[in-house]
Amino acid sequence: MRGPGGLRRAALEDWLRERYFRATTDISSSGVHNYPLGALRELDADLREDELDRLVFRDGPPTGTERLRTAIAARVRPGPDHTVMTTHGSSEALFLAFHALLAPGDEVVVPAPAYHSLAVLPASLGAVLRVWPLRPENGFQPDLDDLREVLSPRTRLVVVNFPHNPTGACLDPADRAPFLDLVERSGATLLWDGAFADLTLDHPPLPDPTRDLERSLSFGTLSKAYGLPGLRVGWCVLPTRLVPEFLRYRDYLTLSLSPLIELLAAVAVENAEALITPRLIEARENRKRLRQWAAARPDVVDCVVPRGGVTAFPRFPGHPDTTALCETLLTDHGVLTVPGDCFGHPDRMRVGFSLPAADLNRALDVVASVAVRTASPQGAAP
Ligand SMILES: Cc1ncc(COP(=O)(O)O)c(C=O)c1O
Repeated sequence: MRGPGGLRRAALEDWLRERYFRATTDISSSGVHNYPLGALRELDADLREDELDRLVFRDGPPTGTERLRTAIAARVRPGPDHTVMTTHGSSEALFLAFHALLAPGDEVVVPAPAYHSLAVLPASLGAVLRVWPLRPENGFQPDLDDLREVLSPRTRLVVVNFPHNPTGACLDPADRAPFLDLVERSGATLLWDGAFADLTLDHPPLPDPTRDLERSLSFGTLSKAYGLPGLRVGWCVLPTRLVPEFLRYRDYLTLSLSPLIELLAAVAVENAEALITPRLIEARENRKRLRQWAAARPDVVDCVVPRGGVTAFPRFPGHPDTTALCETLLTDHGVLTVPGDCFGHPDRMRVGFSLPAADLNRALDVVASVAVRTASPQGAAP
């Protein structure tokens, strides 16, 4: 399954590519349900007046517009040696970071399961992956002893993503300082994928690691907590000394963002709470629905309750591989989910829970009834 240059195909994107546009109910998504342009215009008087007409389509600055970078910095509050750079989704930022930082043979610690970019990109560059397992039997909770086991003097990067896609696991606030200390003492550089940083469900968001650790990069995006995936805006907070290396790659890839997109993104980040808070409140309520749904049918679904993000990663004991179940859900009922195989756990399914309550309840009922109807007796729980 390797393409040119040893880049493995992204199974998640292969699954969603065309199905995403066929679905009538989407519980596949890892982000909150989306906002229209009108929601941004309501937040900013200038966008309602003539600001858009005055915008000139010059090339954007290579690290992003001052207005957007300032708005991001005001939320992230990085340390003095770091710079904010805006990118085409955090996907571009991750691509730039791995290319700028890795050489063949470097060791990279990555969680498993993981969002594909975090493991596939370093592997494609010849890095040696060391897996930090998130164990289902521990509710996918990251264990620092497990991390200690895989760190070595050869570790170049430690890559993490909390809250975690697809399990919803979080780094416990009490573990933050020991975690940063462990990475710092190893001599490795931390890549902190904070795509879901604003979506912690049990405690306030963790402070960005770039406040405390010089050898660290953090990644953010408007695609998840802000409900604006189609804007394709993300960012990286990186040590300033690395900016020229990032630009060396960007000069062959995207050069810069559109000034129109950066203007809309700046309005979003300047008004972050207005966009994020309603979705966060809804996510906490929907998590209760998800928990009740699973608790009511323990023979059908076994679900670790997520502590962050808006996805859960339940197991379906009657389905050793959920791919056929996910296919039936879409074809017969228009309900889009993600088979766990996309994350290396075929007996699980990624279920998103950011949608209006009635739609979520209906979709979860469909998932449960189809799971029962199509369960294989061999795969059923004892
Ligand atoms: C953990 C994680 N990181 C990064 C991304 C990339 O998102 P985007 O490029 O839309 O910012 C995703 C998307 O699902 C993700 O789940």
